[in-house]
Amino acid sequence: MNAPFGRRLCEVAANRDSGGYRVVSLLDHEGPEPEPGQFYMLAAEAGWGADGGRAFLPRAISVAATAPGARGGVRLDFLLDAVGPGTERLCGLGAGEGVWITGPLGNSFAAPAEVSPGAAGAVLVGGGVGVAPLALLRRRFGERGVPHRVLLGFRDRRHTGGLDLFCGSSGALCPEVRLATEDGHTGLQGRVTDLLLPILAGDDARSGVVYACGPPAMLEAVRALCAEHGVACELALESPMACGFGACFGCAVPKPGGGFLRLCVDGPVLRGDQVEEVSHAYA
Ligand SMILES: Cc1cc2nc3c(=O)[nH]c(=O)nc-3n(C[C@H](O)[C@H](O)[C@H](O)COP(=O)(O)OP(=O)(O)OC[C@H]3O[C@@H](n4cnc5c(N)ncnc54)[C@H](O)[C@@H]3O)c2cc1C
Ligand code: FES
Repeated sequence: MNAPFGRRLCEVAANRDSGGYRVVSLLDHEGPEPEPGQFYMLAAEAGWGADGGRAFLPRAISVAATAPGARGGVRLDFLLDAVGPGTERLCGLGAGEGVWITGPLGNSFAAPAEVSPGAAGAVLVGGGVGVAPLALLRRRFGERGVPHRVLLGFRDRRHTGGLDLFCGSSGALCPEVRLATEDGHTGLQGRVTDLLLPILAGDDARSGVVYACGPPAMLEAVRALCAEHGVACELALESPMACGFGACFGCAVPKPGGGFLRLCVDGPVLRGDQVEEVSHAYA
């Protein structure tokens, strides 16, 4: 799905708490429906930069959920972690404020059989604010009848941002979701890779594809485990992005065997074998 030319102004419909993160919903009257894994460049219409100084560059944010807009178009939900000035401003947006958006940008997750011939099922693995694109992917796989399991990792009770994106209309966690928490307050005590390992070691592991998004260390652990067990994977990666559409080369990351990929146009979703090691280059 390609972005319409140029940026467009959207209105904030809602801003709510989600386990320590914020979910900001924008009404996009013109844009197409994005695919899971795609992202938008966001910039607040007002208060975007130091007083009297230069405005910030827009920030890349994955789309976490979509719904039909009340007056046409599409509602876009973004899961935001306030880690710096841009995301802090976006987390503080109030209903009715304006946000400039460009998108949807980048590629999207592919169906299991497109990643690995003969594969039919999916295992989604997420951690931190990286659960965002997997929330939309889970929904799409559900609509398309793709069998899937979801493994999510959280640090502790106070850091469960985005978990509600994996709940059904009753508010209960969807049955295909399993949790790992480092403090053990719910789910398995440990890391999300502790949930993944027995699945990869199973006899039918190669009939599925792993889809992952999260902090670089988690992604590298998932990539290495999948390579070790011969299971195909797709990883949604991050790197600093200035333009989001291939012009600045700010997002270039090394390719195995030499050369570079521009993560904004060649990604952000890459197959595991397109990545030598997920390192600080992707942070
Ligand atoms: C494709 C893609 C999708 C993304 N999706 C999401 C998403 O869904 N939700 C989300 O919250 N974020 C997402 N991000 C990440 C987000 O775009 C970045 O974190 C963004 O840079 C935040 O902007 P900022 O102004 O808040 O922080 P920045 O000022 O850009 O800082 C970002 C981080 O870098 C650190 N940092 C900044 N300057 C320095 C320095 N000089 N030395 C060391 N560390 C420094 C900060 O402490 C902070 O941890 C995504 C990124 C990409 C590329
Ligand atoms: S962000 Fe500019 S080329 Fe990728």
